[in-house]
Formats: sequence, structure tokens, C-alpha cells
Amino acid sequence: MSDMINYIWIWKQIKNGAGSPGNLEEVIIEIFVITTRGLEPVSAGELALLPGVQVVETAYRRVSARIEGDLARLLRLRTVDDVFLPVGEWDGLVPQRAALDRIRAESLRLELKAAVEAIAGLRDVGANISFSVSVNFVGRRNYSAEEIKTLVAEGVAGRYGWGYGDENRTSLNLRVFIEHERAWLGLRLSAHPLHDRLYKQAHISGSLKPPVAAAMLMLAEPHPAATVLDPFCGAGTIAIEAGLVGLVPLAFDHEASALAAAAENARLAGVSLRLGQVDARRLALGSGSVELLAANLPWGRQVPVSDAVGDFYRQVCAEIERVLVSGGRAVLLTNLPQLLSFERLTLHRQVEISLFGQAPSILVVN
Ligand SMILES: C[S@@+](CC[C@H](N)C(=O)[O-])C[C@H]1O[C@@H](n2cnc3c(N)ncnc32)[C@H](O)[C@@H]1O
Repeated sequence: MSDMINYIWIWKQIKNGAGSPGNLEEVIIEIFVITTRGLEPVSAGELALLPGVQVVETAYRRVSARIEGDLARLLRLRTVDDVFLPVGEWDGLVPQRAALDRIRAESLRLELKAAVEAIAGLRDVGANISFSVSVNFVGRRNYSAEEIKTLVAEGVAGRYGWGYGDENRTSLNLRVFIEHERAWLGLRLSAHPLHDRLYKQAHISGSLKPPVAAAMLMLAEPHPAATVLDPFCGAGTIAIEAGLVGLVPLAFDHEASALAAAAENARLAGVSLRLGQVDARRLALGSGSVELLAANLPWGRQVPVSDAVGDFYRQVCAEIERVLVSGGRAVLLTNLPQLLSFERLTLHRQVEISLFGQAPSILVVN
């Protein structure tokens, strides 16, 4: 880590009431977020919107930043998978098994107490701390994520005497994010993964990861309080994420079971959702009546579409073009971008992402 951060000091400042905005302005903390591959600039942009946040590096699935002031604001980020306090950076993690000795030795030296104090300032970590370890890596290597996890868990349990367990049952999560020969280690700020929205209890096949839905909406750059139509709403992820940032969602699907899931999730999210059982090829809306349309189109494999996919996409594109107001926008996620074709609308932006082992694209057209 470049600057060694004194989290304990920062936490004491807040606890002693010295944490008035005036004092906190002088305190700078390093953090990093993990996001979906392809959405790094979107997450960096979301971070940069927070007052007092300076993005310092945007890398593969990771954005590092410095933040002045209240850390709790980071728990409200919508496009990221998770936010971490950095606790170490290791390099030289070669693909050969010799790297395991290095991981074992480094794990025994991990200094976590200060970061734990800072997290305890935000939420209850319990009197008896328990922890889980998650490992992600990019690049081939001759050892597994499970082997890394075991070594790190043994090191931390041996040093601190904390109980090790499953991610859902422990108060702390230690993430080891390895990019080729370098590892970034961080303690997750939140108790639960940020991408795992608590409102999402009713599921349907092909349902979207909420941070991707939030990123699609950010990419569309909607006007505040704009109405957003998702004509393929499924379990309602895009519509609910829209409602949670002050947009006015309208959610259609041709399946009653999807609409029931969307209604239940919206209720849990506290979002008011107007629903309609409608075929997306014949939207029950006037021409030029929709300001923003956001959808994750059925891909044919994951979700069956009634006509041949090419034909289906042609009809859907024509209907999108019909209902959009002049100057309106559509943001569409699909792994068949070549099938999107419009007479009037033009491509404004295209971003390829990684999702469920596939590489679909988000397209913004207007
Ligand atoms: C990929 S899923 C959408 C997932 C949704 N974004 C979510 O997060 O749950 C596609 C949805 O399109 C719906 N669908 C498929 N064909 C349709 C059509 N012709 N009209 C309306 N909805 C349709 C399916 O019922 C399914 O719910």
C-alpha cells in the first residue's frame, strides 16, 4: 500500500465528536471497489460524483480512490459489486506453485486490526469476530482459488484467533483480488455484498445483476424524475433500480409470473411500480410517449423468445422506435447487438461487459 493509513486514528476522530465535517475534511482514506468487467469507467464516474472522492486508478474490475469524510456514503454506491478498505498488496505471485509459499508467509503477517476498527465505526462486527475469505484471479496459474483461500484463512485465523466460516455467516469478508502477478487485499466495508440487493427475493431465470441495471441507467444519463419503461422487466431489477434513484419506473412483461416477481421485489424495495402484462412487440402506449426505455433483451438461450430471434429483434426495435419521444433514449443489454437495427435511432455508446460467463453489450441509442 502506498500511504499507510491510520484507520484507528480516523475512527477515534469520529467517535470523539471531532468528526465534524471541518475535521473530517482533513482525513483521507484509501478504498477500492470491485465492479463488473467493462463497467470500470462507470463505477469510477459514480465514485467521482461523491464530494471529496478522488479516483486514483481504474484497472481491470477494480477502481481505487481516496475519500475525505464519511465512509458510509460508499455503502450507497449502486454500480459496484463491493467496496473494500485495502489491507495489503502483494506482488510476485507467479503462476507456478512456488507462489503458495509467498501467500502463506504474507497471510501470517496481514495487519487487519486498524481496518476492522474503521469498519466497526460503520456497523456492528460483533464481539467475537468471524471472517470469510473470497478469492478472484485473472490469469492462468497452477494452483486454485481454493488453495489460496485456505492459506489466507489459516494465516488470519492463526494470527488473530478469529473464527473462519462461510461468507453469509461471518462479520468480515477478506477479499483477495489477484490480477496476474499482483494481489490486492481488502476488508469489505459492508456486512453483505453490495451487489446482492436485499429487495431481490423473487427470482426469474435470466434476471439481471442489480449493479449492471444501475450502470445501464447511469449510461443513459436520464433527466431527473424521467419516466423509464422496461418492456422486458422480468423480476423488475432495472425498474426498481430506476425507482431507487428517483426515476419513475414503468415495468412490462408478457409473463404474469415475471410481473408477480417484479411486484414483490418492488414492494420490498419500497418502490412504487406501474406494471403491465404486455407483449414488447406491441406496447400498449402511444407513439412518441416514452422518454427513456431500458431493458435487458431476451437472448433466446437464457429466455425463450416466441419468434425466430432475428425477427423478434426487428419487431422489438421497430416498436422501441415508435414509442420513443423525439430526443428520447433507449439503453439495451444484449449479447446479440448485431441484431439491433433502427431506422432513425443511432448508436450513442456501446460498452461490452462480462456477465454470467458471456460478453454481452450495453448499447445506448438515441
Ligand atoms: C432477460 S429477462 C429480463 C430480466 C430482467 N431484466 C430482470 O432483471 O429480471 C427477459 C424477460 O423478457 C420477457 N419476455 C420475453 N419475450 C417477451 C415479449 N415478447 N414481450 C414481453 N416480455 C417478454 C420474459 O418473460 C423475461 O421476463
